[in-house]
Amino acid sequence: MKILIIGAGNMGLTYAKGFLRSHIVNKEGIMILEKSVDKEESLRDLGFENIYFTPGEYIKNADLVILAVKPQNTQELFESIKEYIGSDQVVLSIMAGVKMSTISECLGVNKIIRAMPNLASQIGQSMTVFTSTDDVTRIELVMVQNLINTTGKSIYTGEENMLDAATAISGSGPAYVLFFMDALYEAAKDMGFAPSEAGLLVTQTFKGTIDLYNRSNHSAKEWIQKVASKGGTTEAALNSFESCGLQENIKEGAISALKRAIELSEVK
Ligand SMILES: NC(=O)c1ccc[n+]([C@@H]2O[C@H](COP(=O)([O-])OP(=O)(O)OC[C@H]3O[C@@H](n4cnc5c(N)ncnc54)[C@H](OP(=O)(O)O)[C@@H]3O)[C@@H](O)[C@H]2O)c1
Repeated sequence: MKILIIGAGNMGLTYAKGFLRSHIVNKEGIMILEKSVDKEESLRDLGFENIYFTPGEYIKNADLVILAVKPQNTQELFESIKEYIGSDQVVLSIMAGVKMSTISECLGVNKIIRAMPNLASQIGQSMTVFTSTDDVTRIELVMVQNLINTTGKSIYTGEENMLDAATAISGSGPAYVLFFMDALYEAAKDMGFAPSEAGLLVTQTFKGTIDLYNRSNHSAKEWIQKVASKGGTTEAALNSFESCGLQENIKEGAISALKRAIELSEVK
């Protein structure tokens, strides 16, 4: 299998490294098309050999073409690669907000897979939601899901608009978690902990809680009931969260992200 990754930035490189690590594809099977010539040395240092800086006939050799440029660069990219893309090639786009109908119109292809990964793909812990057009065969879909899974976990959806919802939950989600971590970190410092101690208190509390949660069958609500004893400290904090409507605020935040994701996909 030959894979062409277009855009060797954060995401494109994360995918390329994930594929190599997994041994699903070897370095001869990966081609990279990048805009910045000054990235050549670092790409070669990472072990990539087939590096290109302008589109050309080699694009026709790719079974899978991965689009990983910023959404604002898509039109320019489409124009430059259109003549080399054929209808038998599978196109996987990880570009936020670019609909499959746009890709189909601009590139004249029908086998399209669209995925929304998140930041943690950089350490193989992404949560990715992906969808596809009807023209993608089951075998092609499984092949691409195996590749996506080299960067973490994935869920397939048959409805493209669920990618906007995924953007609002798992795409933007790492920032929500970090926001909550930062609030606790500031509280810990206010209570007298040194910054390094505050950081450790927060990170270990998050890590320990996630590990505990993953090793049990209890829901988050059940765990909260277990730890919040009547009249205790945890209950005092939870009551305070409730009285200022924190849970509703978090839901509203996620809905704002969903609305923005829909708006952004409408303008492309
Ligand atoms: N980063 C994330 O956590 C994340 C999460 C979900 C989805 N995404 C999506 O992933 C895509 C890539 O994001 P990113 O953070 O990886 O961006 P990035 O770091 O800016 O990488 C994009 C790369 O593509 C290159 N490029 C631009 N136009 C090109 C062209 N016509 N041909 C070849 N290469 C070209 C850029 O070069 P120059 O720098 O020279 O322009 C840059 O190296 C975006 O569409 C984004 O929506 C990212």
